[in-house]
Parts: sequence; C-alpha cells; structure tokens
Amino acid sequence: MTPRVLVTGSAGQVGSELVPFLRSLYGSDRVVAADIRRPPGSGDRGEFEQLDVTDSSAIDRVMAGRGIEVVYHLAGVLSARGEEAPQLAWRVNVDGLRNMLEAAVRHRLARVFWPSSIAVFGPDAPREQTPQGCPLNPTTIYGVGKVAGELLCNYYFTKYGLDVRCLRYPGLVSNMAPPGGGTTDYAVDIFHAALSKGRYTCFLREGTVLPMMYMPDALRATVELMEAEQRSVPRHMGYNLAAVSFSAGEIASEIRKHIPSFAVTYAPDERQTIADSWPKSVSDEEARRDWGWSHRYDLAAMTSDMLAKLGARHLRAEKDV
Ligand code: SER
Repeated sequence: MTPRVLVTGSAGQVGSELVPFLRSLYGSDRVVAADIRRPPGSGDRGEFEQLDVTDSSAIDRVMAGRGIEVVYHLAGVLSARGEEAPQLAWRVNVDGLRNMLEAAVRHRLARVFWPSSIAVFGPDAPREQTPQGCPLNPTTIYGVGKVAGELLCNYYFTKYGLDVRCLRYPGLVSNMAPPGGGTTDYAVDIFHAALSKGRYTCFLREGTVLPMMYMPDALRATVELMEAEQRSVPRHMGYNLAAVSFSAGEIASEIRKHIPSFAVTYAPDERQTIADSWPKSVSDEEARRDWGWSHRYDLAAMTSDMLAKLGARHLRAEKDV
C-alpha cells in the first residue's frame, strides 16, 4: 500500500511542483499538502491542511488525523528573506525542523525528507567542485540553519533510527513556482522579464557563477533519493547535488539565442554578498555513487523548456486580458 505522505511548505518553490509530482506518482488521495496559508484557488486541488510548523501540537494533530507515514518537510525561509528576518528564519528553518523530527519519532514515521542547500558552504570552502566533506562555515542565517538542520537530521537518525534523507539543492529554476526570497531567484525572474518586458535588471554581477538545477531534475532527485533502498543511503546529512553552473551573463546570452533583443543590465545589491559566499560548482560524486544520481538538463535544454512553458502561459494571459 502506498504510504500516506505529508508535504509542508506546499505552496513554496519546491512544494508547488513536488505536490502535483507526488500525486501523479502515488495518487491524489495519498498526498496531503500543508502550508501556513491556503494558496488562493487551491480549494479544489486535493487534500490540504493549514499548518504552522513552529506549532508542534498542530503537527501532531495533522499527523494523527491524517495517518501520515512519510513527510517531505519543505517549509522554510530562503536566504535573502532570511537576512531581512533572521529570527523568523531560525524559528521556521531550525525550530520547525526540530518540531517535525520530534513528531516523526513520536508518530513512528517511515521516512522524512528535508532540503538542505549549497548555502551550507561559506567563503572558506573551495569555490569550484566543492567536495561533500569540507568545512561548513556559512555566513548567512539561512546557511547556519542548514548546517544545524543537517546535524539535527543526523542526530535523529543516530539516536532514534529515524530514516531522514537530505539533499543540498543548488539554485532551483522553475516555470511554475514564483520566486520567493532566494539569492538564486534571479535565474527565475530573468525568464519572466525576458518574456514580459524584453529587458531585465539583474541583482547579481554579470560574472557571478552559481550551481543551478532545473526543477524537473530536482523533483526526480528528491523522489529517487526517497525511494532508494536504505542501504544505498548511508548519509543522513545532506548529499551534494549538482546539474549545471552558469553566470548571470551566460544565462542572459542563452535567452538571447531565443529572444535576440533581450537586454540585461546589472545592479548588484546585498544579495551579491550572499552569492559571493557560495560555491560556483559542487561535486556530487557521492550522490552519483550511492544512489545513482544523474542530471538531465543542461543550460540550453533548461532555457528552451522554460521559454516554451512560460511563453505559452504568457500568451494565454495576454489573450485573456
Ligand atoms: N536557492 C536558495 C536561495 O537562494 C539557496 O538554497 O536562497
């Protein structure tokens, strides 16, 4: 029998695509979406719980009431938003995770997924092909929370045998989810701007290179990790996960192959400091070796698909006006 799954942060960047993906795999009635607010227009799109992950009794109620067996705990505050509200970031990202892990032990959950990030690395880590095991000295509250969270995940595995699985996502590019307070979100904004205005002002410098991934690869990585045999997942802290690395200038040139008149200017703001503290590329050798990870989308394939999907939606929206 397919286990009953809960996805927190279901209206966020990963959640808004992971929920339909899991429902297509396991059936709509097996996947409960949860978020702090009900997203507008979501009323008829499957089972939903309004849930604040900083409230452990609310988590207990949902888990018991819905008979949850597996959780994808995605609720979180991203890096740039985290710097604006560090206390909130800690409460949601770390206290929220601890609440979830406690509840997972109490309710004897079979498995928990938690997203870590390239933000676990700080300026002292090697910038290119950053290895799995190197010093984790992040300088953002988001990164500090991700390191603490990874340690918590490993602790709950060692102490209680909880099967927690964890990926260090690179910057994610999605044609569904709206950008939501991340430093890598320029790589999403840029597509919307290219299609709607034909020009974009980028908040990072032209030469800034970051590790990135197209959302279909990220969804597949998440499910492949969660479905892997337990013996193939010896690591309960985050696995480095990689697909492509590109600079802001490189993605702009790739878009220009489709929209030649697209104009980009660069006006770096405080998010530049965050980007400068992160790797340019990471080595995900262990993920490839342990559970067979392999990405499918490079920059060219991602750009064509983004423009095709978003372009069709922009056209529909224009017709409706
Ligand atoms: N993409 C995230 C951010 O920019 C990092 O994991 O905040």
